[in-house]
Order: sequence, then C-alpha cells, then structure tokens
Amino acid sequence: MSRSIAILTGGGDCPGLNAVIRAVVRCAILQHGWRVIGIEDGFDGLVGTPRWRELDLAAVRGILPRGGTILGTSNRGNPLAYPVRSAQGVQLVDVSAEVVGNFKALALEALIAVGGDGTLKIARRLQDLGMPMVGVPKTIDNDLRGTDVTFGYHTAVEIVTEALDRLHTTAESHHRVMVVEVMGRDAGWIALEAGLAGSADVILIPEIPFDMDAVCAALATRRQRGTRFSIVVVAEGAQPCGGDKVVQATAGENLGVERLGGIGAAVSRDIAARLGVETRAVVLGHVQRGGSPVPFDRILGTRFGIHAVALIEQRQYGRMVALRGRAITDVEISSAVDSPNLVDPQGELIRTAEALGIGVGR
Ligand code: F6P
Repeated sequence: MSRSIAILTGGGDCPGLNAVIRAVVRCAILQHGWRVIGIEDGFDGLVGTPRWRELDLAAVRGILPRGGTILGTSNRGNPLAYPVRSAQGVQLVDVSAEVVGNFKALALEALIAVGGDGTLKIARRLQDLGMPMVGVPKTIDNDLRGTDVTFGYHTAVEIVTEALDRLHTTAESHHRVMVVEVMGRDAGWIALEAGLAGSADVILIPEIPFDMDAVCAALATRRQRGTRFSIVVVAEGAQPCGGDKVVQATAGENLGVERLGGIGAAVSRDIAARLGVETRAVVLGHVQRGGSPVPFDRILGTRFGIHAVALIEQRQYGRMVALRGRAITDVEISSAVDSPNLVDPQGELIRTAEALGIGVGR
C-alpha cells in the first residue's frame, strides 16, 4: 500500500515555505508514489476536527516564487499549551494527545513540521509521544542551531539592505539621523548583516546591550568628520545596558509570544534630545517577512524538502534537516532547539563592523 505523509508550516511565516512544500510534494509523488496531505494553520489543524487538504502536483504548481505559505500558519496553536476559552477565562491546556489521535486517525506515517524554535519544540515532544516527525528549520531571524542558516533569512537581509540604500538618499538630503528598527527577537543577525551590506553607521543588536553615550559619540564623531547624516540599525530585541526589551503587547494579551517593538522610536528620540539633530524612526516590520524569496532561499527550501522526504524513506524520525557548509545533512531536533544561535559579540562579523568604524553601542 502507498505510504501517506503530511506536512505543516508553523510559527511566523517566512519566504521559502512554499519551496519546501513544493519539493516535498513533487519528490514524494514523482519519486516514491506516496500520498501527501497538507495540515492547515500549523499544529492548529490537528486540534479538534482536523483541517487538511490533499496535496497533488496541481496543488503546488506555480508556488515556488510565492511568499508566505499556501497551508496557512499560526504562532498561537501550541498543542502543549493550547488556549481554551471558558466562562472562567482562557486556560492553557495540553492537547498533544488529541493531536496524536488525529494524526493516527488520518492513517499518516510521518509528519514534516516546517518551523522555527517553537514549532520544532512541539515536534520534539510529539516525537516523544510516538508521532514520527521530521523537522525543517525556517526563520528570518536565523536563530536556530544545528544548521548554518535557515531559509527566509537571506530574503530578509536583502529587503533590509534595499531599505537602507533607499533611506541613505533621503537621510543625506535632509541631514537627518534615520533609525531603522528591524526584526530580531533574540538574535541580531538581520541587523548585523543587513547593516554591513547597507553601510549602516551604528548597529544595535540584542547580544550587545548598548550604551547611549557610545551610540551618540559614534554619531557625533561622524558629524565632526563632516558627514551630516547617519543610519542607525536597531534590532527589535536590542536593549540598553541595564534596561529591558521594548514590548508592544505581552504574551497574556495575544496568547502567543510577547510582541516586541518600539526600541527604534526610543533610540531616535534619545539621539534627537542628546545631539540636537533631526531624527526619524522607520519600522520595517513584517515587510521583512513578505513577498518572494530570493534564489538562495528557494534553493535551500527545495533542498531541505527533498532531504526531509529522504529521511522519511529511511524511516529516520526525530531529525531536522540542516545545511552544514555546502552540504545538506540532518541533526537531532533537540540539538537545534536547546539554545538559540546568537551573534558572538567578539566574533569576526562584529570585529569587521568595528574595524570599519561602525558603532555597536559599546
Ligand atoms: O521569529 C520571527 C519574527 O519575525 C521575530 O523577529 C518577530 O519578533 C516575530 O517573528 C513577530 O511575529 P508576529 O508575526 O507574531 O508579529
């Protein structure tokens, strides 16, 4: 009998998800003759009455250049702490047994979970509960261990770099300091690499708590050298020395993760007050996650999808596909989610920035 497998996309979306779905479906059908179904809206689609759709070749036609995910996603439906509303309010309930039951009722052999840290932690738990899982790492933040890079990241860096190029011309015309807030909850990869590519003057990341005196000294030095505009890139998770991350909405309010945002405006106000220069804050937000993936992410997502199918063919479960050097390989899901992949404050990339005279807030 033909084997049946499923795929879902969980957590925040990211360019390249459709490349993975397409690769899995095409390889499973064309190379192995398997049946593939897509679970809708991440693990949410396996809670209550399952929501899924058949994925045949026609279902994935034309999706390679499309951003987002044709299956939908959710970063609220964690089956290990599922929000259930009752007269008493909202309670977080472990519904993982229901997820496993639905998976078995669908007569599936394995589930490919494409997601970041949160999704892969759920996948690890479900694997422990006897559900054969294969993980595929995605996040624009690039903060997952076990793989050199996640797909989606290069697209985000390209979007931010283009924005920095555009902001340069208007900053220069008006002699302003433009403060650009980018995504990066715990890891400053997007801020750092886009800041380097887009010629930022100051880059602030979560891994290096910043000192406003140092930030303003870097900007003042630049002015003294005769350049009257500057570009500051700040990751949403950056925080001042001894301070906290700036939060827009707490986890309790949105039943998901804490929503960050606002550090760019705070830094912009502070620079204006201290240096007496005109500043503007720009938040790039979800623009960084939208639209078509760059070729690198299309190819990486495709290679990840093909390797995920190979793992299922060999019945190797509890594994996450990964890029190491130029090769596609796989690692234990656990090894990817136990701790985040952060920028090394003493590493070569930061030293490169400092060698160029870019301020990092220290
Ligand atoms: O994890 C990726 C990410 O883009 C973070 O950088 C950001 O904090 C978060 O997603 C925002 O998610 P949401 O879609 O819930 O606003």
